[in-house]
Formats: sequence, structure tokens, C-alpha cells
Amino acid sequence: MKRRARRTRVRGAPRSGARPGPALGRFVVLEGLDGAGTTTQAALLAERLRAAGRRVHVTAEPSAGPVGALIRQILRGRIGGGPGGKQSFSGWGLALLFAADRQDHFHTEIAPKLADGIDVVCDRFTMSSLAYQGAQLGDMDWVAGVNREAAVADLVVFLRVRPEVALRRRHAASIDREIFEVDAFQRKVARRYDEAIGRLRGAGERVVEVDGEAPVAEVTDAVWDVVGGLR
Ligand SMILES: Nc1ncnc2c1ncn2[C@@H]1O[C@H](COP(=O)(O)OP(=O)(O)OP(=O)(O)O)[C@@H](O)[C@H]1O
Ligand SMILES: [Mg+2]
Repeated sequence: MKRRARRTRVRGAPRSGARPGPALGRFVVLEGLDGAGTTTQAALLAERLRAAGRRVHVTAEPSAGPVGALIRQILRGRIGGGPGGKQSFSGWGLALLFAADRQDHFHTEIAPKLADGIDVVCDRFTMSSLAYQGAQLGDMDWVAGVNREAAVADLVVFLRVRPEVALRRRHAASIDREIFEVDAFQRKVARRYDEAIGRLRGAGERVVEVDGEAPVAEVTDAVWDVVGGLR
């Protein structure tokens, strides 16, 4: 089956036509650099959807599941020493964990909600792996390969924020530093995001960019404009 299509599809699922559109929830993914505002906007988008009468489930990656918990420990440096450290957890292994978490997250949490007609707003998904693991490993083709079976969202919203703005926000918020929150690395991730956007669009995915540097409410309006176009 074709891997990349407009509607959420996954290996083993019936071909399109067997999944009636209107009854399904919409799967919307928010993406961006650390500090771009994905968590803020996921919550605000959910509020708008609820106000419009939709049922909504908000979730994030790494997921709340067992593989997600393991990934968070690795990102916080509690397992291995982080990239470059003597006892680093393998970046290749980490990319595989993200891909595994994505499968578990989708099949146990996201897909049942969509099937029930509930919209799912997900803070990060496959594009984050392409950008972050692509930046860490320098091989986006390989990362894309291990995510070949990942579900395709109905819409990916990329919150475009310059790395220096994202960094300033993270410092202001005193957000816990994870191993990826290094400025030079963020610049690399920003370039990889651009590459990932082109890659996913080239594969037929719907990826829309929104100016993430605008005030919060304006970003929410812009996201809402795009999501409203889904129905
Ligand atoms: N449009 C905005 N303008 C100014 N500040 C913002 C905007 N959006 C979010 N912020 C602030 O920036 C900080 C980071 O926002 P948020 O946690 O939503 O980002 P994130 O992309 O989820 O980051 P992370 O990847 O670290 O989880 C927060 O303090 C938030 O209040
Ligand atoms: Mg966040």
C-alpha cells in the first residue's frame, strides 16, 4: 500500500474507502524546535476544537507509554551520558526506540481515538525523528526507513521559530535541559526540519508552516485557520 497519503493510514489497515472519512477523528501533529510553542499550541488548538463541538485527545511524543518513559530517561541523561559522552546511549538505538514508541503510541492510544471519532492533537511525531535523529545521526534516509510504517497524519503544522528565539524562550521558562537542548545542535535541527518538510511534502503529506514567532493568540488563530480547512 502507499505509505504516504492525506488520510491517516497504517500498515494492515483497510485501504481508503473502507475507512469512512466523516466518522473518523482528525489526526493533527504540531512540530517545531524546542521552545517553538508546540505544547502551548496543542492545548490551545484542543480548546478551539472543543469549543467547536469536537471531542479531542491531546498527546505527545515521547509518549506516556513504557518506551516513551525509557526515551525520556535517556534524553535527561539518566541512562547513558548523552551524545558524545563516554557512556552515551547509542543514537541509532535511540532512533529505533522513537520509532518503536511511535508504533505503540499510535496503535494503543491514537488509532482507537480516531476510530471513535475523536480528534487527536499530537505534540511531535515522525517529523521530529527526521529532524532530531536526522541531525544526530547525519542520515535522514535511515531514520525515514525505520519510520516507514509510521502512520500519516491528516495535517502537520510546523511552527517556524528561529533557533535563537526558541532558545531565549527556553531560558526564560527555565525549562529542564535535555541532552538535545544545545544551541549548535538546535541550528542543525532547524536545517533538518527544512529538509524533513520537503521530504514529507514530496511524499504527499500535508505540511503547513505557521509563523511561531507571533504572539501566542495569533499563532493559535493561524493554526485554527489551517485546521478548520480540514473539514
Ligand atoms: N508565541 C509565543 N510567543 C512568546 N512566548 C511563547 C510563545 N509560545 C510559547 N511561548 C513560551 O515559550 C516557552 C516554550 O513554549 P512551549 O513549552 O509551548 O514550547 P515547546 O515547543 O513545547 O517546547 P519543548 O520542545 O521544550 O517542549 C513557554 O514559556 C511558553 O509560554
Ligand atoms: Mg513541549
